[in-house]
Amino acid sequence: MSILVMGTGYVGITTAIMFAELGIPATGFDSNAAKIALLNQGHLPIYEQGMEQLLVQHLAGRTIRFIQDEQTAIQEHKVIFLCVGTPSNSDGSANLNAIKQASEWIGKYMREETLVVIKSTVPVGVDERVSEWIASKQTKPINFDVVMNPEFLREGSALADALAPDRIVIGSDSEEAAQRLLSLYAKIDCPKIVTTPKAAVMIKYASNAFLATKISFINELSRLCDGLGIDIAEISFGMGLDPRIGAKFLRAGIGYGGSCFPKDVDALLHTAKASRSRLTIIEHAAKVNRTQPLYVLDAWERVMPSTFKKATVAVLGISFKPHTDDLREAPSLVILSELLSRQAKLRVHDPLTVLPVHFRALGVQQLDSIEEALMGADAVILCTEWPEYFDIDWFVMKPILNGHIVFDGRNALDGKSLIRLGYEYYGISSH
Ligand code: UDX
Repeated sequence: MSILVMGTGYVGITTAIMFAELGIPATGFDSNAAKIALLNQGHLPIYEQGMEQLLVQHLAGRTIRFIQDEQTAIQEHKVIFLCVGTPSNSDGSANLNAIKQASEWIGKYMREETLVVIKSTVPVGVDERVSEWIASKQTKPINFDVVMNPEFLREGSALADALAPDRIVIGSDSEEAAQRLLSLYAKIDCPKIVTTPKAAVMIKYASNAFLATKISFINELSRLCDGLGIDIAEISFGMGLDPRIGAKFLRAGIGYGGSCFPKDVDALLHTAKASRSRLTIIEHAAKVNRTQPLYVLDAWERVMPSTFKKATVAVLGISFKPHTDDLREAPSLVILSELLSRQAKLRVHDPLTVLPVHFRALGVQQLDSIEEALMGADAVILCTEWPEYFDIDWFVMKPILNGHIVFDGRNALDGKSLIRLGYEYYGISSH
């Protein structure tokens, strides 16, 4: 038996390769012809370390394939994973157009009893709408089940997260459907929770909102520590030793980005509003995050007035986090725009990520090497903590830099040794 994955974005590709790795052949469907062609040639449209080799192996072993014909894809499968995108609408709600389209295709083309598994992040109650959309296109009644199975993948470690997850959450009103899905995950050893579809969705949103809030908590606290002359990294370390708190997601910085936290926080707030409820803590976490890059830049300007005005600034790292080329909601983009408004001349470096064209059109340069980016810069700003930046020999770089000021937006560099080398170093409330 093989499974069908509809949608070949991050979640879809990872899900297909995960099942292939588990010994269950997978078919990936996407309506985007270019993506299908790329995948069938053994190339990923996303960057994920190590995943392309596995794709090539599974294509060669015929345990994975990609097709663009929805009719064939659906007619050949009894288990279908919905992994299509659910981007944000302008009011923060999740856009369900792709989910609706996929559901209607399933209704139209299914030939036998089918299990439909929603992996895309969708709001509470969408499983019922998916059932309605499927049923609305059926020409004769065929049984099907719709179950929720949210994913918890992180970019940069997506496949490892999929194959060795902390938990598998299944939301189903049918015990039989839940058991069927559990059997597909039989080889994965982790806690497996079977609950209602609504609770499964809430576990996903609540997890992301909680982690986002944890980051905003430490970021807001860093503003106070800034004024009090306290190093926030020491506070994170001290707090993180308490196992009830935990050290993870307690690193202060220029804010969280990516395709999930900002979008899922907005969608949860939208759900709360629609049910006439308020999630004031999460509202505030989102606000802290929106203002964090601006706050950090202002704080640096307070200690070093006019540093950025018409200055040449080297920006190290632009992706929303290391080990990905994803720029969605990256706080670096806010920093770049703010620096441009101060007429700074920008020299950007990122090991993987390509600078968006509109920044190029505004005169921002992307350089291939760290050294080139640093050349002639009056100040350096680190936005993403790529490992290569930990290895910069700041002694060697000194003569090529015009000014010796380093602003560390992730508290990732060794500030003490930079200061010893004669640099001025400013992190996120690190003194
Ligand atoms: C996240 C969730 O972790 C994952 O479970 C979910 O399925 C999708 O969203 P991802 O977006 O890949 O994954 O990135 P993550 O590693 O969670 O980081 C998100 C953002 O938070 C990044 O911008 C990162 O730089 C920032 N971050 C993380 C901090 O600012 N401080 C921290 O301590 C941790």
